[in-house]
Amino acid sequence: MKIGMIGTGMVGQTLAGKLDSLGHEVVIGTRDPAATLARTSPDMMGNPPFKVWHEAHTRVKLATFAEAARHGEIVIGALTGSAALDALRAAGEENLAGKVLVDISNPLDFSKGMPPTLFVSNTDSLGELVQRAFPKARVVKTLNTVNAAVMIEPGLVDGGDHSVFMSSNDPEAKAVVRRMLTEWFGWRDVIDLGDISSARATEMLMPIWLRLWGALGTPMIGFKVVR
Ligand SMILES: NC(=O)c1ccc[n+]([C@@H]2O[C@H](COP(=O)([O-])OP(=O)(O)OC[C@H]3O[C@@H](n4cnc5c(N)ncnc54)[C@H](OP(=O)(O)O)[C@@H]3O)[C@@H](O)[C@H]2O)c1
Repeated sequence: MKIGMIGTGMVGQTLAGKLDSLGHEVVIGTRDPAATLARTSPDMMGNPPFKVWHEAHTRVKLATFAEAARHGEIVIGALTGSAALDALRAAGEENLAGKVLVDISNPLDFSKGMPPTLFVSNTDSLGELVQRAFPKARVVKTLNTVNAAVMIEPGLVDGGDHSVFMSSNDPEAKAVVRRMLTEWFGWRDVIDLGDISSARATEMLMPIWLRLWGALGTPMIGFKVVR
């Protein structure tokens, strides 16, 4: 399929690489392709500059947010939470209309230091903000509760015996995303939490997820729902 990846961070790179390896036609979007390729320093987390990844994934075309969104039959948003709406506006409402828009971003606010707080919670969520801003897009919130590497290889944690969540108003979009999660990425326990307002719950898992990372000393963790 044609995939538009909106975001060049670890999540965008990891998912784009996996989707490319599965034979999908992936375009990865950024604000300014030339500036992104010109970066030479590691990012804030110490990850190598984008061009190092891109040199190893030459089939994945780097383009603007709008070009990537236009290309995608499925569009995936993996954006800094505070910039997600602006980036999706740059991607273009018309390029998202009618499409499944997978939203992986978390509403983390780093402005008051560490650990980050949530800039939207309890009565609203980033998933809902995205769905309201782009009413014609078929927004599905998922994968935001695991590290990027685990998103495409759940077996990295406890042999894959843990859960991932999905929230969307659109049952057909959820069926598409369930197939992506199970058949393409290997998830075994995909829990449909209901409409997009259920993204509040998975975004509010971030505080415990971040504390677990600190306490256990590894981000290779997952939530397992036992029933
Ligand atoms: N990293 C993980 O393992 C992980 C796990 C679960 C969820 N998440 C969530 O997934 C999202 C992506 O995370 P990430 O670690 O891959 O990368 P990130 O650094 O959070 O986001 C990178 C993307 O955000 C864009 N961006 C940053 N500031 C912007 C601005 N002012 N305007 C427009 N776009 C802007 C960047 O654009 P350019 O391409 O132009 O630089 C880049 O494409 C985040 O919301 C994060 O909380 C991450």
